[in-house]
Amino acid sequence: MLSYKQILVYVSLFLRVALAATGGPQLRNVMYLTGQHPIVPPAPQVSSVTHVILAFMRSATFNDANPNEWPLFTTVNATRDKFAPGTKIMIAIGGWGDTQGFADAARTAQTRTLFAENIARMVSATGADGVDIDWEYPGGNGADYKTTPNPTKAWEIPAYPLLLSTIRSALPAPKLISAAVPGLPRDMLAFTPHTLPSLLPSLSFLNIMTYDLMNRRDAVTAHHTGVQSSLRALDAYHAAGVPYEDMNLGFAFYVKWFETAVDGGCDVQAIGCRAALMEDPATGEDLGRAGAFAWHDEVPGQLDASFTRAMGYGVYDEEGGGQYFWDGEEGVWWSWDTPEAILRKFPAVVERRGVGGVFAWGLGEDGDGWVHLDALNEGVEGWRKRRENEGGERDEL
Ligand SMILES: *[C@@H]1O[C@H](CO)[C@@H](O)[C@H](O)[C@H]1NC(C)=O
Repeated sequence: MLSYKQILVYVSLFLRVALAATGGPQLRNVMYLTGQHPIVPPAPQVSSVTHVILAFMRSATFNDANPNEWPLFTTVNATRDKFAPGTKIMIAIGGWGDTQGFADAARTAQTRTLFAENIARMVSATGADGVDIDWEYPGGNGADYKTTPNPTKAWEIPAYPLLLSTIRSALPAPKLISAAVPGLPRDMLAFTPHTLPSLLPSLSFLNIMTYDLMNRRDAVTAHHTGVQSSLRALDAYHAAGVPYEDMNLGFAFYVKWFETAVDGGCDVQAIGCRAALMEDPATGEDLGRAGAFAWHDEVPGQLDASFTRAMGYGVYDEEGGGQYFWDGEEGVWWSWDTPEAILRKFPAVVERRGVGGVFAWGLGEDGDGWVHLDALNEGVEGWRKRRENEGGERDEL
């Protein structure tokens, strides 16, 4: 029999060897699994996934005095069975448009404590390995930005770090807390050099949403998940005090389309030409002139011909870094990542900046072809190998 002390020696030896072999802490490969596309490919295709984040539970659930149900599209246990042993299964709270529950939670010390304790109860009841806080966004620029102006939400900016630290205090140490955070500097109202130092101690990592970087609020065409715009996002967080290794770079398993303006100059220069008016300037409501759909989805009928042209004639912009096509016949700008574009982001963004991981929205969105997932996995595997070799070289010195 091994003594307790011997076991400790073996464990620490194993950890040292494992860390040396990987050249440092394990690189994160995070997959959101969504209620819209709750599909998981066969096990070999997710063997390199380190974290799965189930999206979403509603934020308001955690403001109830005594909730006893935790509505979600699946369970943690059922999800665990579909991934490699040791994969962390987390639960995302919130999502686009679900801000009121967070605002109610953040108000006072009492409401923050209730919210945090309910999260701890949920984590314990479901067996999750942690939570991902998707408040989009503290301080404003969310779905209701026209009807509820940002100044009315200014108080949320100092309240957000307090809410996160209350959740951190309520959750036992091994449980993880991450946050999904905006990819456009204009939306980083609560992510500043002033707030980030008080946010970081509560967070295991930040999922930087480096997609939808062109959206219906924009007036000119741009890559929605481009290399240069992704670098700008990461660098903005870094400049505000976030170490690159605390960041995950976001990948989108869907395609975006936008109508362009008549005589918008797109025939001359498709990147940076004028888009159509895509939302109501007074209400912020969608005018139906832009959208997105997952690789798993059926192509909306009215876009079928244009989408086929985009897939056939799309090109890669070496400068901004992104696949695109402007359909002159119908006046539609298309922006997406091909498998090749995903692979290019490893040297161009992930390894150049030395981020700690990647994530995708979302796993099932890439069914049933899984070619974007395969590319992301290939990128992660190559990155891990290069890190391993670097680790080996360092040891030999
Ligand atoms: C999940 O599975 C574990 C191990 O089988 C079991 O102990 C636990 O009760 C399950 N949790 C739930 C919420 O069903």
